[in-house]
This record gives sequence, structure tokens and C-alpha cells, in this order.
Amino acid sequence: MYENEDPALSPYDLVVVGSANADLVVGVERRPAPGETVLGSDLVVHPGGKGANQAVAAARLGARTALLARVGDDAHGRLLLGSQRDAGVDTGPVLVGGAPTGVALITVDPSGDNSIVVSPGANARLTPQDIRAAAPLFAAARVVSVQLEIPLDTVAETARALAPGTRLVLNPSPPAPLPADVLAACDPLVVNEHEARYILGILGQEAGDTPQEWAGALLGHGPRSVVVTLGAEGALIADSRGGGHVRVPSPKVEAVDTTGAGDAFTAALAWRLGQGEPLAEAAAFAVRVGAAAVTREGAQASYPTAEEVGAP
Ligand code: RIB
Repeated sequence: MYENEDPALSPYDLVVVGSANADLVVGVERRPAPGETVLGSDLVVHPGGKGANQAVAAARLGARTALLARVGDDAHGRLLLGSQRDAGVDTGPVLVGGAPTGVALITVDPSGDNSIVVSPGANARLTPQDIRAAAPLFAAARVVSVQLEIPLDTVAETARALAPGTRLVLNPSPPAPLPADVLAACDPLVVNEHEARYILGILGQEAGDTPQEWAGALLGHGPRSVVVTLGAEGALIADSRGGGHVRVPSPKVEAVDTTGAGDAFTAALAWRLGQGEPLAEAAAFAVRVGAAAVTREGAQASYPTAEEVGAP
């Protein structure tokens, strides 16, 4: 049982610690091979970054959300702060300066799939000291969500900063070796196939071929629960407290741009877990949010309201 479920104790349903990037997006017919040049569409700049995306997605659904991130004192930083504020995110904890705002170079192909290269910029300057300085933020958050576009030391400090009764949701993207104490704090660890295979490989374990095998193997390394995202196939959940593996199907939609859909999924999941929903129900809601997000261009611009996904 998580303790911080009393709204009177919890100023935030969700505190997101993570990255904020300007997404520089070009549509392409196909990605260039090494040494090749292809022409693409006009450039579009969207607010993005896995942390900033999660914060906007949660706030748009109705969650009381705060973001702890670092942006540069520049036009991209202002774009990101504006997007957060428009969605209703508390940007008080966002730090400004120290390096240019992070940038993501994104190509999107006609099927809606993307390829992303991130230049971390200010995200790499979000330090463990910044986490310690933000201690009051963590005091009564129901859920803290973190990803890996910020330094691993900062992620580890975030796991240590959690108040008793606060739940940690971690999406290890892009994947990196995770300390045992961070893995053990996850409830859930949210991975796609690539991340699951990477983490199990680092841990020296044969991954197997099925989401059930990945989830079971990952549970054996400490997380209290694991969610494997499966794109258009939905998700699979596994909980160390019982219930076996549960497959959660996704609604069928026409994909336009998958950028940031995983962030919307994770934000929705984290918010509903903080509302006290069981993992299977929270995941069933989250797949609807992720599916809605792929039907529109961009990351934050594509996120639905609770009403749009038929939720109260
Ligand atoms: O998950 C999608 C996000 O990954 C993009 O918004 C981009 O900024 C990268 O961080």
C-alpha cells in the first residue's frame, strides 16, 4: 500500500524528473543509408523530451503535475516552458541556464515510425545536487516518474529522494545499465522490447523471445512490477505481488506519428497508479492514451485530454 494517496497530503499527483528537448522534425520517404543524403519535408520544431512530454501528457489528462528539468536560457527553453504552462504543469522546479536546451533530431517516415538522435545540452547538467535541492518537491508526491535522458547519477539520486509511500515509475529510455537499488525501487519498470533486451543483456541474462519471458526475467532483478510496451499490440504487465502476466490490448488506430506515444503511455499509467488503480486497469487506460497520441503529429501536441479517451 502506498501512503501518499491522500489528496490533502499530496500537492502533486505526479512529479516528473527528466529531459526537455526541442524536437527538430523532418518527414522522410525513407531514412538515409550510411553515406547517403535524402531530401525531407520542411522542418517543424515541436516541444519534446521524454520528461517534458510525460509532464504535459499527465497534466492534459487532469493530473496535478510538476516537472523538474533543466533547459537553456534560449528560445528552445522558452518554447518548452510555454508548452508546460499551457498544459497546466507547475514549472516552478524547472531550472534555467548552464547550457543550451537539449535538442532531438527526428525523422518520421510514412508509416509514422521515427528515428531520434538527442543532443542532451542542459539535460546533462541536471545534477544529483539539483535533486537534493528540490527535496520538498518529493515530500508528498504520490508518484515520481523518471527516464534516462538525464545523468544516471541524477536518476539514482531521485530514487533515493523518494518519501516513504511514494511510487517510482522508471522508463529506462534510452537504455543504460541500472544500479540494483534503482531497479529495486521501480514499481513499475516500463520497457519496450529493445529496452528489455538491453537491460537483461547487461545483467548477463538470456532475454528469451516473448514479452512474458522478458517481464519474468526483469522481475527477478528487483522491480516490484514490470510493464512491457508492445506498440500497436498494447502492453503486458507483471507484478511481483501476484496476478501472473496480463496482456492489455490496444485499440486499433491509424498511426501518423509515433513520437512521444510511449511517454504519453507512461504518464497516463503513472497518474492512474497514483490514483490507486490496480496495475492492469491503469495499463488499460494508458494504452488508450498512447493509441490516441499516435494519431496526431508531434509529441506534446498529440496528447489527448481525459475526455478524448472517454475517461471521467
Ligand atoms: O520519446 C520521444 C522523445 O524522445 C522526443 O520528444 C525527443 O525529444 C526524445 O527525447
